[in-house]
Amino acid sequence: MHTTTRARFSRRFILLAAFAVGIAAADSPAGSELVLVAGATGGTGHEIVGRLRADGYRVRAFVRDADKAREEFGDNVEYAVGDVRDRATIDAALDGVDAMISAIGSGRGDPANGPEFVDYGGVKNMAEAAANAGLRQFVLVSSMGVTHEDHILNKMFDNVLQWKFRGEEALRSSGVPYTIVRPGGLINDEGGKKAVVFAQGDEGTGAIPRADVARVCVAALGTPAALNKTFEVNSGKSAAAQDLTAAFGALAEDQASSGVPAE
Ligand SMILES: NC(=O)c1ccc[n+]([C@@H]2O[C@H](COP(=O)([O-])OP(=O)(O)OC[C@H]3O[C@@H](n4cnc5c(N)ncnc54)[C@H](OP(=O)(O)O)[C@@H]3O)[C@@H](O)[C@H]2O)c1
Repeated sequence: MHTTTRARFSRRFILLAAFAVGIAAADSPAGSELVLVAGATGGTGHEIVGRLRADGYRVRAFVRDADKAREEFGDNVEYAVGDVRDRATIDAALDGVDAMISAIGSGRGDPANGPEFVDYGGVKNMAEAAANAGLRQFVLVSSMGVTHEDHILNKMFDNVLQWKFRGEEALRSSGVPYTIVRPGGLINDEGGKKAVVFAQGDEGTGAIPRADVARVCVAALGTPAALNKTFEVNSGKSAAAQDLTAAFGALAEDQASSGVPAE
């Protein structure tokens, strides 16, 4: 095929492919990395999208309802319509993506979208798709308490923390470079007011603004010292000035597929 014709054909193919998987182009800074955000329409996901854009990343929001998402983000992001329970929709959404962040979580009321199928099955689907697509990093928002079988939230919500731990394990063993962030209780306070306290070992309790979880997730994206680590985050008492890269560097890497920091 003649080069110009081939280029035209490729461009048309890319446009058609984008249309076919429900990806709408957006006006984004050229040359920046493209990050897929799963759970973009959720509380933490919304903060993650805002932080990514502020830091100059291009964002593709992986959403179930494009109209609902468009009300939140307008033309500032790309959209990929899908569901984490449907692996094919994740594969399609990852076309051209460099890295991804997930802040999905199962809701209440629909057993078919419960913890087993979203917090475990959905995360497993995303991890395997990310590994298959050769992403450079997958940042997962999980939860404090996932290693505590007798946690009250397991009794209240269909073993949600146990399923989240199994989702974490699927990511740790998937082969894609990852960072797993386990927040304490999420609140909607303004971010950046308090320093983030990092911990490992899944002990204790705490709370943290969703905006600060987003700050940690996006900082982890560009930081080799955050790779292959699982850690808890909560708000401390001190004011916010903090070197997050140094904080990541002080954390231990996971032992293979256990989530337990190496000695
Ligand atoms: N609440 C807490 O105190 C707390 C504490 C620690 C950790 N966490 C965890 O932190 C994460 C973020 O929490 P949040 O409260 O900010 O989240 P959230 O507001 O509940 O948002 C959840 C997101 O997941 C999406 N989602 C649900 N099922 C899906 C599916 N099958 N396919 C694709 N997307 C799906 C929702 O999409 P729709 O908009 O379409 O519904 C929504 O965007 C969750 O994993 C949560 O469990 C929460």
